[in-house]
Amino acid sequence: MSFKTKDFYNFLNQLAPLTIAEPQDNNGLQVGSFEDEVSGVLLVVDLTSKAIDYALENRLNLIISHHPFIFKPLTQIIKEDPKGHLIYRLIQEKINLISWHTPLDKIEEGVSEAILRALNLKGERFISLQEKNQKVFGLGRVVYLKKSIKLQDLAKKLGKVLKSWVMVVGDLETPIKAFGVCGGSGAFLKDELKNLGINTLITSDVKYHVAKDSLEEGFNFIVIDHGIAEGLVLDWLKTSLVKFITSYNLNLKIEIFREPSPYQILLTEENKCKRKFCD
Ligand SMILES: [Fe+2]
Repeated sequence: MSFKTKDFYNFLNQLAPLTIAEPQDNNGLQVGSFEDEVSGVLLVVDLTSKAIDYALENRLNLIISHHPFIFKPLTQIIKEDPKGHLIYRLIQEKINLISWHTPLDKIEEGVSEAILRALNLKGERFISLQEKNQKVFGLGRVVYLKKSIKLQDLAKKLGKVLKSWVMVVGDLETPIKAFGVCGGSGAFLKDELKNLGINTLITSDVKYHVAKDSLEEGFNFIVIDHGIAEGLVLDWLKTSLVKFITSYNLNLKIEIFREPSPYQILLTEENKCKRKFCD
């Protein structure tokens, strides 16, 4: 027996059903064939040329990306364009691409909870709660701590587990008793959290004006790298896929390819300020 692309598609659909995807999202098989035999699987946050290189070197012919590679409808596929170039490579090298996005954001074990797992914490409720077929899901998680922690200590702890830069919006000395987490761009969850009496959110991609307004309101953000934060869910996904494969008594290589943050934060002696730190 061997696995085909469609077997992984069906498994992902059980794990994080497409029925809960955001309406504008684009999940599923993006390039390739449902009928191809899978020689190995590579898990990534984003499809890049380096991810394709890695898949080729390691003979992994199915890439599962968290972010949809094709999001807006394509009007053309040109070999010389950055996106077209990658599509050409996938087809020429016979590599299939599946993307699994908002269903993985929304399930309980998903993207936001993966960040909490890295902190040795567990979410207690969803933010942006939705319900379908008697199942609840949402776009973020809320944690209540037994003991409060200073905003800066929580941020430093995150920086350590993510091994990445962290930015903080808010008074670093604020004691935090409860906070929200949303792996993606979660600033839109601010009002819902405020209604719950929670004034802190760990998320990524917070815009300048949102940060300024939040400072004024006394709402705190711990801003982390989008890709690195969302990459934490790949460990859980890998464990789930390994279980699935071994339940058929089969062995197949499943690997994770991580890339560094696209942002490089340079601190000089002159501008080393307390508002950005990496340790
Ligand atoms: Fe994302």
